[in-house]
Amino acid sequence: MTPLPDSGFAGPTAAGGLSAAQYAVIHDFLERRVGIRLGPDKEYLVVSRLSRLLTCFGISGFAELIDRLSAADHGDLQTAVEDAMTTNETFWFRDAVHFRVLTDGILAESKRTSLRIWSAAASTGQEAYTVSICLQDAMQLGRVRRSLDYQILGTDISATALQQAQTASYCGVSAARGLSDDQRRRYFLEQQGCIELLPLYRQRVSFRPFNLLQPFDLLGRFDVIFCRNVLIYFSQERKREIIMRIARALHPGGHLFLGSTESMSGYQDLFEMRNLQGGLVYRLRS
Ligand SMILES: C[S@@+](CC[C@H](N)C(=O)[O-])C[C@H]1O[C@@H](n2cnc3c(N)ncnc32)[C@H](O)[C@@H]1O
Repeated sequence: MTPLPDSGFAGPTAAGGLSAAQYAVIHDFLERRVGIRLGPDKEYLVVSRLSRLLTCFGISGFAELIDRLSAADHGDLQTAVEDAMTTNETFWFRDAVHFRVLTDGILAESKRTSLRIWSAAASTGQEAYTVSICLQDAMQLGRVRRSLDYQILGTDISATALQQAQTASYCGVSAARGLSDDQRRRYFLEQQGCIELLPLYRQRVSFRPFNLLQPFDLLGRFDVIFCRNVLIYFSQERKREIIMRIARALHPGGHLFLGSTESMSGYQDLFEMRNLQGGLVYRLRS
């Protein structure tokens, strides 16, 4: 790892014990390792997300944290900082139109017997599992070939988020966010304030840690990629570079979903923008 600049200078404007110079160092660390750009004036975010971590690691303050981050033998600390600084917000049936685009648009016009799907910033798993729920429903209703052999891979850089995803069990106030009462009853077991996804919807979904800045080759190729609400955190150059690699990870004619507030202009040579079932999706040109 490249040594981090000297962190001793506390700077004139220290927010919660974090100086402007220290903020710049942590910002640079995250940009290089995760791609995330916090932007200016987000000192409060760093303080609120890393303060607990300082206590856990027995670190006296941000100056010591930065010194330790630059040491090669502090992989656990580096990973914990990356994890703590990710924004894992997600919910069930987010941008619901995308799932209809998949089942009633893309699959309705395809003769595919198998399908490989990648949820590329899976967070706590709701996106990958929502795809599975929608595919199972469509198969049962005969809108999609009943024998469709699908596999869904969910990846994320946050180990904490993925641990939650793997359990498929959600507790607390946000557990059922995005679900109607009917969906909650149909797809989940309810126990003591927690909801647990039924095995039918979990069985073809797997998760593994993965940083989008790494080469995608080991993951194989996909028919559909969901890369929603993550590229917004990256610089334009990084976003472009990741989209180019996504194109190489898709089978010819494969589809890419971005978040509904994200746009992708300047890629007309590579992707055709389609409006299906009232939603937008990008198809890789063959
Ligand atoms: C806001 S959530 C989006 C979750 C889901 N795709 C959705 O739309 O609901 C963004 C996720 O991207 C992940 N992430 C951020 N940088 C990443 C990177 N370099 N590689 C892989 N995942 C990353 C975060 O950990 C977080 O879980």
